Amino acid sequence: MNTPAPDATTTSVAGVALEHPVLNAAGTAKSLDDVARLARSPVAAVTVGSITKEPRDGNAGEVYASRPGYAVNALGMPNRGATFYRDALPELAGAAHAAGKPLFVSVAGFSTDEYGELAHLAGGAGADLVELNLGCPNVWDDGQQKRIMSFDPELVSGALRAAAGAGAPVGVKLSPLSDPVLLGEVAAAAVEAGVAYIVSCNTFPNGLALRPDGRPAVDVGYGGVSGAAMKPVALGQVAQLRGLLPDDVDVVGCGGVRTGDDVRDLLAVGAAAVGLATAFWDAGEDPGIFGDLLADWLG
Ligand SMILES: Cc1cc2nc3c(=O)[nH]c(=O)nc-3n(C[C@H](O)[C@H](O)[C@H](O)COP(=O)(O)O)c2cc1C
Repeated sequence: MNTPAPDATTTSVAGVALEHPVLNAAGTAKSLDDVARLARSPVAAVTVGSITKEPRDGNAGEVYASRPGYAVNALGMPNRGATFYRDALPELAGAAHAAGKPLFVSVAGFSTDEYGELAHLAGGAGADLVELNLGCPNVWDDGQQKRIMSFDPELVSGALRAAAGAGAPVGVKLSPLSDPVLLGEVAAAAVEAGVAYIVSCNTFPNGLALRPDGRPAVDVGYGGVSGAAMKPVALGQVAQLRGLLPDDVDVVGCGGVRTGDDVRDLLAVGAAAVGLATAFWDAGEDPGIFGDLLADWLG
């Protein structure tokens, strides 16, 4: 297991060394400018994506509702698509590496084959780790909400098998799985298919925030729940996964990280590192939040 000792902040995820365990979670950086700003910040690695095969505008209208104690979002993974990132990733990796930080690339396919294709693209273009985002709840196609892949152990292993040989260690990011039996089946399928690390968790699917007039705060209606309300969920998922996985498969904890105590608690239940998204969005995407969080954790 990879829990840093209190007097040593260094850690690693899937063999990639990190100066400390605080990461930006996927969804917080898409452009060279985003990556450059994070590279200049105290974050331990720069995570870019999620990247999809085709460019996506994301969902229209209001897509993020922040409330005391939680947020609901349905951004719909806006990004410039594989063709853009095939050219841009070497530069993004260069910007992160020049600052002494690894580049983690999150990819999201619409089939297991697409996960494989995108993982190979990322691994071949300089990613130090590739994260298959199998837990995004906010993706709609032709008026239908897409299946959340991490609820199906066969899809989890299919995506990982398609990604094998990507040129960088491959991890998966899961939706919070409330059925402990299913969580065990998904963990076993991932291990059998050679997973290098697991990120837990993505947002809780299909939450609903309302405007004062009763209309949904996010225009597509439902959205993923994140922020402080997700902390006990993330702690429970990470603790269960730590018990289910072999020691050489690291867990990255995500959900409600805002304070040094949140970092400490996730590490205490076995996370090798922690990621945050909502606290960053709520801080107006100010990368200074990573320095504040580290100072609070190291106290
Ligand atoms: C606005 C927003 C966009 C997100 N986009 C992505 C994404 O593109 N890919 C992904 O794997 N997770 C995405 N997430 C999920 C976060 O990475 C994280 O797993 C989740 O929000 C829980 O952490 P938090 O409570 O610190 O936000 C997004 C979250 C938010 C709030």
